[in-house]
Amino acid sequence: MTSTILQTLHQDHANQLQLLSLVETEIGKLDDVSDPADFELLSLALEYCSDFPNRYHHPKEDRIYERLVARDPAIGDRIDDLVQDHKTLERLTREFANAVAQAIASGDSTGLFETATQFARHYRYHIGIEETDIFPRARNVLTEADWQAIEASYREEADPLFGEQTRQAYIALQERIVAQSVGG
Ligand SMILES: [Fe+2]
Ligand SMILES: [Fe+2]
Repeated sequence: MTSTILQTLHQDHANQLQLLSLVETEIGKLDDVSDPADFELLSLALEYCSDFPNRYHHPKEDRIYERLVARDPAIGDRIDDLVQDHKTLERLTREFANAVAQAIASGDSTGLFETATQFARHYRYHIGIEETDIFPRARNVLTEADWQAIEASYREEADPLFGEQTRQAYIALQERIVAQSVGG
């Protein structure tokens, strides 16, 4: 069971990194008149982030971290940072989404590059710490009973973008992600 939960979260991270690459590609086109940034696509990407990672992936990790800190209090500060990060990522998602909505409404994308860069950088940093530091720690420290309790504390939910059944609203986004991963 250990590996099942962590494998799912690891797959979520791989998906999130693909999405971040797409966001960064679009943001890189902000000043490109021949191939302008696709704001509608960015808007969808941010809707997804509020929808799945913020509402489901992060809370699921919070449950693991709660158990981990109980078993390994020395790791407390690092866990506090990650839990705080989940709130920060939520705020950065909101700010980025607002900046995109404003750019769509007014055509003014001032500040969008900064907001987007901060969002993408923080996301990548956060995933890096979880993958290299905290998940290996959890794998070593948590017991089978811990993993069972964690598993029992949430309801498995299908990913509306990367899951087997992509939600209708995300199809255009999913097609772009596939095209990007094929095109390199
Ligand atoms: Fe996280
Ligand atoms: Fe994560």
